[in-house]
Amino acid sequence: MVKDIRKSLRYNLLDQKARGILQSGLSKIDKLKAICSLLKNIFSHYDWVGFYAVEKLEPKELVLVTFEGESTEHERIPFGKGICGQAALIKKTIIVQNVSKEPNYLSCSPKVKSEIVIPIFRNNDVVGELDIDSHTASAFTLDDQVFLEDVAKMLSGLF
Ligand code: SME
Repeated sequence: MVKDIRKSLRYNLLDQKARGILQSGLSKIDKLKAICSLLKNIFSHYDWVGFYAVEKLEPKELVLVTFEGESTEHERIPFGKGICGQAALIKKTIIVQNVSKEPNYLSCSPKVKSEIVIPIFRNNDVVGELDIDSHTASAFTLDDQVFLEDVAKMLSGLF
């Protein structure tokens, strides 16, 4: 149960809008772009929102598909590298509340203070990731995690 009622309303609105986008006639890439911009615009603590897809060739890498926010040099990330690569390897959501304390971290911008990375699964395989950066320290809560893991489940068919 989300305690903050305004946040809860935003999650519900976002959930409805995301379902609308998924049911639309847009291409897969345009659906991902639309969801990216939806997430970025509805929560002020989501300063960079992007999707990576898993490239299946060995050694496995994450390839940036689309994003909203400042451009990043990290368009390809090997499994195990950075927060994204670690989440892909352990197949679990990772929240980093203070990126400056994380040794295995790939910086996109000095403005970023915290980050959440949510793997997207098909069957039991990681096929993509949702990565969100915040310019606020400790920005991500369990509510964000639960909500974003639901979004990630919805998007599995787009990867
Ligand atoms: N910080 C990420 C790299 C991707 S950028 O945030 C866009 C990481 O450590 O994997």
